Amino acid sequence: MITVSLISLGCAKNLVDSEIMVGHLHKAGMTVIPEAEKADVVIVNTCSFLDSSKEESINAILEAHQGRGMRKRRKEQKLIVAGCMAQRYQKELPGALPEVDAFIGLDQITKVAPIIVEIFAKERAKNAGGEPAPAPAFVDRHPTYIPDCDTPRFRLTPRHYAYIKIAEGCNHPCTFCIIPQIRGRHRSRTIESVVAEARRLVAEGVREINLISQDTTFFGMDTWERRPDPRTPVDSARGSALTTLIRELQAIPGDFWIRLLYTHPAHWSDELIRTIAGCGKVARYVDMPLQHISDRMLGAMRRETDSARIRDLVKRIRAGIPGIALRTTFIVGFPGETEADVGELCDFIRDTKFERLGVFRYSQEEGTRAAKMDGQLTAKQKESRWRRVMSLQKEIAAEVGKSCVGRTLRVLVEEPGVARGEADAPDIDGRIYVPKTLPAGEFAEVKITGCHDYDLLALPPGETPEEFKIAKQAQ
Ligand code: F3S
Repeated sequence: MITVSLISLGCAKNLVDSEIMVGHLHKAGMTVIPEAEKADVVIVNTCSFLDSSKEESINAILEAHQGRGMRKRRKEQKLIVAGCMAQRYQKELPGALPEVDAFIGLDQITKVAPIIVEIFAKERAKNAGGEPAPAPAFVDRHPTYIPDCDTPRFRLTPRHYAYIKIAEGCNHPCTFCIIPQIRGRHRSRTIESVVAEARRLVAEGVREINLISQDTTFFGMDTWERRPDPRTPVDSARGSALTTLIRELQAIPGDFWIRLLYTHPAHWSDELIRTIAGCGKVARYVDMPLQHISDRMLGAMRRETDSARIRDLVKRIRAGIPGIALRTTFIVGFPGETEADVGELCDFIRDTKFERLGVFRYSQEEGTRAAKMDGQLTAKQKESRWRRVMSLQKEIAAEVGKSCVGRTLRVLVEEPGVARGEADAPDIDGRIYVPKTLPAGEFAEVKITGCHDYDLLALPPGETPEEFKIAKQAQ
């Protein structure tokens, strides 16, 4: 029996691809084990978003080849590179990484088992110089694959939460981003397919369903008769849409949250705001990467929206969905950014008080339009702007944390002693420290008693901190 070990890097979308690969390996009778050194095959599912992610991927590949510490990779062990880096550098990698036995693109994740069988069957021919021939690359030029509800998949997340990839690919022309070139054009699953998967997950005991894609708000629009443009708002009257999907997920019986990740500001509509407000199972949390607020920067980034629309949208979301927590990300140090642009961004952050916020230093990615723009900033400039925005957000996060003290919240217990609220997406946001006696994987009601940086402390209502301390000491 063939044993396989899989190392999954990158984002939640890549994690779902890893889960699909593991599902297919199981289906083919292979065994997936955590110990890379013991496996017959090691798969590294890579990310290629930024230079730092490429570096992490290369290090993981080299580590898988060389082994940890003194332990060398066994001669007969096969090494496969999958995911976004294999897709992006499908021409370059086979020559550059001779230690790899095969490369698998994004459309080949369901073929992982026969590919493994094939590479065991065919030992690579050596050329005259004794060097092995470059490894085969099982990669399509433009990916088109999208999973369905019956796609074999083995979840790698804890039992109580899951990701559902509702669409794949992206049609937006953001000048800094390479992902559309890697993952291809936007393609949505059907509402029926997503709902069937959600039903099954809820029946399995999942308490939180995280809807993911490159652009969740564009869900369904690629199937509309009249083609939408990159600014078209979500509108269920025109065809399949996120709002219809949310309403159908809301109707699934059971106690669970639905969380929306990766929404693009250009597609938000009043219908979407009303739908979220009216569906109690949708977490009061919205992830909406804004990237900047200065019109100069939004234009250069080709974000398909502008400052006035974003400001108005934030107001409408806050007014229309009481208690909503807004998560966003910004990029600082984009080519041509001035201190005045950063000042405008800081003012906006100060006024809006995002509950959750991440800041990226712009990364000059080859193959993107922004990489060729004039006005590239130095690493030092990017770093000082990043620090400026991060220190501002730290103050705001402390204010947000303090404002939670005294409130009673419903939380999902992640593991003994640690929970998340509606405002905390898994693996991204803060934590809520709770008594270890609360059962993991279940919802609980707690009262926030304190805060520390981005994290909160909480107790079941009625319990005093003293009792908490005694219970904690007893654990
Ligand atoms: Fe995700 Fe990295 Fe690919 S962020 S989509 S794994 S390039």
